[in-house]
Amino acid sequence: MNSPSVSIEARLADITQLPVDAIVNAANESLLGGAGVDGAIHRAAGPALLAACRELGGCPTGEARITPGFELPARWVIHTVGPVWHGGDHGEAALLAACYRNTLALAAQHGIDSIAFPAISCGVYGYPLQQAAAIAVREIRAHVATGTHPRHIVFACFSDQVYETYLRRLARSDA
Ligand code: AR6
Repeated sequence: MNSPSVSIEARLADITQLPVDAIVNAANESLLGGAGVDGAIHRAAGPALLAACRELGGCPTGEARITPGFELPARWVIHTVGPVWHGGDHGEAALLAACYRNTLALAAQHGIDSIAFPAISCGVYGYPLQQAAAIAVREIRAHVATGTHPRHIVFACFSDQVYETYLRRLARSDA
């Protein structure tokens, strides 16, 4: 069980609607928008988000960048670029773990205490869901164990399959 000051939960939710300090965008290296959760976040945040992203000049895979949330309920958007799945022997797991770690480090620097993650790389980029969920939960648990912000983590699940996968993974203590 988590201590009362920490929460890690899966929710069946559209991430753009969540009233958390920050939401995470599963972006591409251009940071100029796209399909999936990236498109939904840009639509909900309004055109000022694209203007802010243009100033960032892109983001390499595995790294993270921060912008305001503009018209979103969330104050911040942390954009991270997950790996494209190429079969698993092209460093995908390390890059996906780096997305979680770099996003959490950036959130901590900005005093962000509640944050919602989509299933990074599990849509267009084709990462197998169970393997990605295992990495996500492992990295989040390692972070909250350090006692630093953010301490309230939501996995925003956009389908029953994603939701059930996270619930199963969160129910295990070995990951
Ligand atoms: N709220 C929460 N999760 C969502 C939402 C939403 N509103 N919409 C989709 N998802 P994807 P990727 C889920 O494809 O695989 C973009 O074009 C979706 O069901 O958005 O990292 C970028 O620009 C899936 O479980 O991201 C990149 O080019 C998860 O979010 C590329 O796609 C991630 O799916 C990134 O691909």
